[in-house]
Amino acid sequence: MTTSFGELDTESLRDRVAGQLARSRARSTALTDAVDENDLVKQHSKLMSPLVWDFAHIGNQEELWLVRDVGGREPVRDDIDNMYDAFQHPRSDRPALPLLSPAETRSYVQQVRTKVMDVLASTPLEGRKLVENAFAFGMIVQHEQQHNETMLATHQLRDGEPVLHAPMPPAPPGPVLDKEILVPAGPFTMGTSVEPWALDNERPAHRIEVGAFVIDKYPVTNAGYLEFIASGGYDRPQWWSEEGWAYNRKTGLRAPRFWVRDGDRWLRDCFGVVEPLVLDEPVVHVCFYEAEAYAAWAGKRLPTEIEWEKAARHDPATGRSRRYPWGDEDPGPEHANLGQAHLRPARIGAYPRGESPLGVAQLIGDVWEWTSSDFHAYPGFVAFPYQEYSEVFFGADYKMLRGGSFGADAAACRGTFRNWDYPIRRQIFSGFRLARDPGPEETR
Ligand SMILES: [Fe+2]
Repeated sequence: MTTSFGELDTESLRDRVAGQLARSRARSTALTDAVDENDLVKQHSKLMSPLVWDFAHIGNQEELWLVRDVGGREPVRDDIDNMYDAFQHPRSDRPALPLLSPAETRSYVQQVRTKVMDVLASTPLEGRKLVENAFAFGMIVQHEQQHNETMLATHQLRDGEPVLHAPMPPAPPGPVLDKEILVPAGPFTMGTSVEPWALDNERPAHRIEVGAFVIDKYPVTNAGYLEFIASGGYDRPQWWSEEGWAYNRKTGLRAPRFWVRDGDRWLRDCFGVVEPLVLDEPVVHVCFYEAEAYAAWAGKRLPTEIEWEKAARHDPATGRSRRYPWGDEDPGPEHANLGQAHLRPARIGAYPRGESPLGVAQLIGDVWEWTSSDFHAYPGFVAFPYQEYSEVFFGADYKMLRGGSFGADAAACRGTFRNWDYPIRRQIFSGFRLARDPGPEETR
């Protein structure tokens, strides 16, 4: 399989890394410059870190991996590693730490980046697994971009005047036919062994037999979700799993997070702007339990992670799996709503050029999609470069989300990319699409 950068010469690879590092840093800077000092150090929700913690943590991870490990250089600061170790301090405790001030943080991340650019220019990108194809740089690029999405979620939780602005996503270019797509039974290749910056949990590529299934062309929209609410969906235990119902009762769920009741209608708070719902936009900010209940109410189910990836990557004409639904080329603005270019999901039908060979649309970007699967290792999994990246999270505590959101960067949501979170999470940019088993007459 070819990839778009697996065969780059070293100089082109260095240029690519530099461009990606600059792109993620521009976003970290924009997300932190958008608010004042008080907003940077404040905890906007118990679920989140102060923005200034995220920013210094981004710099600290970059220092640990690229300055010290890859570069073998002297530390920029060796006194703050513990404070910015996510495993040492849960998010709720982070505001109480003696954190670097916003000014110290900006200076620190800049000092680290200056050293990293020197390491990038002088380190051979071969001979050691950590640096082959600039993997460690790619890992740090993706780490910063993942924190950029978390920081965007912090902005969504922040009170006060809106500070983030972006143009609307493209509108659907033509009539939109929402429909189901039958995916016949057969094998497909899941995961990857060749994608240079794929993380350990996406590896290795493996053939897998998948039974026939039916999947929706588009994610569930606000219009569909309103029907679920109007039919009393939140009050009917029959649609909810036992854990989901317990969580519903305990927390008094009534609607997706950030929906606001206004008389007899629902509005939505979108980064501080309260606005009418856009009916054909994918629903966002629902937890796994809500997605699962909606699916039961609709007489369907969530897709498994395997079904999701087959719908996204499998090309029946060739039998091979693509990097992305549209092919092997990196995402462009014509393919998917990514990278915080638009601060909301795009209406269904907006990205016909992003469809998969099976005709499934808007799989990448817009909203992360809950699947029914727990987080498990692929056969042949090897932890790399450290167990804390994925392995410590394996098990039934987490549910898998696939595809990336409008807040995620292209570099961190290829077709094989796996995200995981607790089934109660709603502050993330999460939605879902439906699947079902085909009837006997459909597969004849
Ligand atoms: Fe992190």
